[in-house]
Amino acid sequence: MKTIGVLTSGGDAPGMNAAIRAVTRTALSMNLSVKGIYRGFNGLLTNHIDDFGLRSVSNIIGRGGTVLYTARCPEFIPIEGVRKGVKTCKDEGIDGIVVIGGDGSFRGARDLSNEGIPCVAIPATIDNDIASTGYTIGFDTAMNTAMELMDKLRDTTQSHDRCSVVEVMGRRAGDIALHTGIACGATSILTVEKSEEYTVKHTIEKILNTQTSGKHHFIVVVAEGYTAGMKIDANHLAKQIEEATGVESRATILGHVQRGGTPTVRDRVAASRLGYHSVELLASGKANRVVGFMKNEIVDFEINEALEMKKEFNSELFKVAQTISI
Ligand code: F6P
Repeated sequence: MKTIGVLTSGGDAPGMNAAIRAVTRTALSMNLSVKGIYRGFNGLLTNHIDDFGLRSVSNIIGRGGTVLYTARCPEFIPIEGVRKGVKTCKDEGIDGIVVIGGDGSFRGARDLSNEGIPCVAIPATIDNDIASTGYTIGFDTAMNTAMELMDKLRDTTQSHDRCSVVEVMGRRAGDIALHTGIACGATSILTVEKSEEYTVKHTIEKILNTQTSGKHHFIVVVAEGYTAGMKIDANHLAKQIEEATGVESRATILGHVQRGGTPTVRDRVAASRLGYHSVELLASGKANRVVGFMKNEIVDFEINEALEMKKEFNSELFKVAQTISI
């Protein structure tokens, strides 16, 4: 292994730059050369690749987004696309790649590994929806962004004795909803993982019950996976709550603002650790691996094994939320 490539793929996540920096600096410290590949796997199809030196990654650890840009790349799904990528690696002298992204990106890393270009993947997505790791880069920053916005919403919600229905991101996972719901004192948290028991009907009953103990304003946090799964939009949900409870209700969809901003300490440190370990793995001849955390220790799994794992929702935390939101 003489030269490694690094790319970011899928939805961006705060902390991706810290991971790029760690990969670059770790590799250079091992006397490996580094090449930055732009716009995810697309860079391998369009030859958009630059040499990276120590200073290429200066002043990026605190920046959101990704200096390598990112994209989803459908052209990389068929084997012809992967083989074109392999040819680019051979032409450019890239002997291995660190892929930073979500589980869609892991598939590209696996396919490249299977075609002879060793890859190690780093989980980076605000959704925290990857079973092979207890933590994904970007999750903490996104939660803090959502929390700050919900705190602002609470001011106006409280002043008007209203109910705010706040939709947060997470794709199919309710992790952002659960954590920010607790942090912001939500009356109800709606997630797809608990959608059988914790329904709109349950939310309405909870609002009516807490009204009797003197509560006048309400925050309902709903995961986008819930609205998508139940085929109901946040505005409709607010209307249903208003009709059933008599509490004036408004919907706010936080959207892509959750993906931006300065990464938190947790994300910068997690990204630095995973970046370092991914290069160590590649340099020691390992391929087709995904790194991650279990109980704050670094772990790594074969990518297919990781993709087959089932993520467990934190039911204990959900119970805490239910208990203290009365
Ligand atoms: O995976 C990150 C994420 O922000 C999800 O939370 C969301 O469902 C999705 O990406 C949005 O994707 P796009 O940016 O393509 O609209």
